[in-house]
Amino acid sequence: MSSSDPRRHSPAAERNGPPLLAALQARLPAHGLMLEIASGSGQHAARFAAGLPGWHWQPTEADPRAFGSIRAWCAGVPRVRDPIVLDVLDEPWTEALPRPVDAIFCANLIHIAPWACTGALMRGAAGCLAPGGVLLTYGPYLEDDVPTAPGNLAFDAELRARDPAWGVRRLADVRAEALAAGLHLRERVAMPANNRLLVWARER
Ligand SMILES: C[S@@+](CC[C@H](N)C(=O)[O-])C[C@H]1O[C@@H](n2cnc3c(N)ncnc32)[C@H](O)[C@@H]1O
Repeated sequence: MSSSDPRRHSPAAERNGPPLLAALQARLPAHGLMLEIASGSGQHAARFAAGLPGWHWQPTEADPRAFGSIRAWCAGVPRVRDPIVLDVLDEPWTEALPRPVDAIFCANLIHIAPWACTGALMRGAAGCLAPGGVLLTYGPYLEDDVPTAPGNLAFDAELRARDPAWGVRRLADVRAEALAAGLHLRERVAMPANNRLLVWARER
């Protein structure tokens, strides 16, 4: 990478990209409009838009300094829209977002942001999703019915040391926020390294 290359490189996004793409391909319908929350480097947007040829992709970020990286990763990838500023805590969400959307993807925000972001994400997503649409969240969770992997406990301690407002969340708490927003947990998909892809659907 040259020093003028605006692309940021997330090793985690490089690792989890292929299994996440396979999980999305197996679950999403053939066509749709995806809203991505907290796009970060833009690696996910580029990989997933390329691998889901019937889908249009709308990246968003709270931090507009990420836009150069998102644009650079997505350059030449068809069906990716220009990124939009979205801080999930700014409720109601900006009028600039496309609505309704067929699916919403959000990786690695819930544990790397203050807890208030979880409820805001659920409320905002419920307000944007088309009937039958789903919110997909990805990351580690503490599950009451599954022994917590030592790696996730260490990760939780590391996050809290970096910022006391961060931390791996209890799935039961996330679920309560989702239910209050009108979303129910449809599927819990085991992913590599003790992560989960969670599929949240609007209450009918
Ligand atoms: C750990 S990174 C994850 C990036 C990407 N989703 C991934 O998995 O590679 C967390 C991202 O959340 C964004 N973020 C933090 N607080 C946010 C908020 N309140 N609303 C939207 N995005 C936020 C940060 O700017 C950062 O890009």
